[in-house]
Amino acid sequence: MGSNRVALIGFMGCGKSTVGPILAGLLGWSFVDTDALVVERAGTSVAEIFRLHSEAEFRRMETQTLAGLTLRSGLVIATGGGAPLQPANREFFTLEARTFHLRVSFAEALTRTAGDTGRPLLAQERPALQRLFDARLPLYESLGEPVETDGRSPREIAEEIRATLARPSRWVDPEGSGG
Ligand code: S3P
Repeated sequence: MGSNRVALIGFMGCGKSTVGPILAGLLGWSFVDTDALVVERAGTSVAEIFRLHSEAEFRRMETQTLAGLTLRSGLVIATGGGAPLQPANREFFTLEARTFHLRVSFAEALTRTAGDTGRPLLAQERPALQRLFDARLPLYESLGEPVETDGRSPREIAEEIRATLARPSRWVDPEGSGG
């Protein structure tokens, strides 16, 4: 279940990067954001990595970054919304961390990310984005313990996760594919 590592997964706008630092503060752990680590390594923004290289290149860097975190503990990790697409990352979420899925409705995700130009995938039309949301949901649901975020404050969400962490995980992957 991972040594003192919590990973936050979920669709863009679910609050991973906002809840993560608060949770890390509550636990006295460090916070890392894989997008930020990739940007730091690449020396350029996520949007530019997509534009100048490719989404595949971004995914490769994201996977390498996440794998590197197995060397660290006492860590709350905010991940990019596409991280669960890669099998190696799914293994990380299953074996190397206790993983929480920050659930967000599609409408709320759109509201929270409105006007954002830093996320290349948001540039697509709403129906395509809705399809992406629908396609990813089962993946998130199968990998992370669910935490509702609609209508709740980041602090409330972080406290719920902390309380859950105090208990052993009794969560069972609804798809039965968690191991
Ligand atoms: C992505 C989500 C982004 C970032 C990149 C791709 C995705 O992270 O990794 O733009 O595929 O959903 P956030 O989920 O933090 O927005």
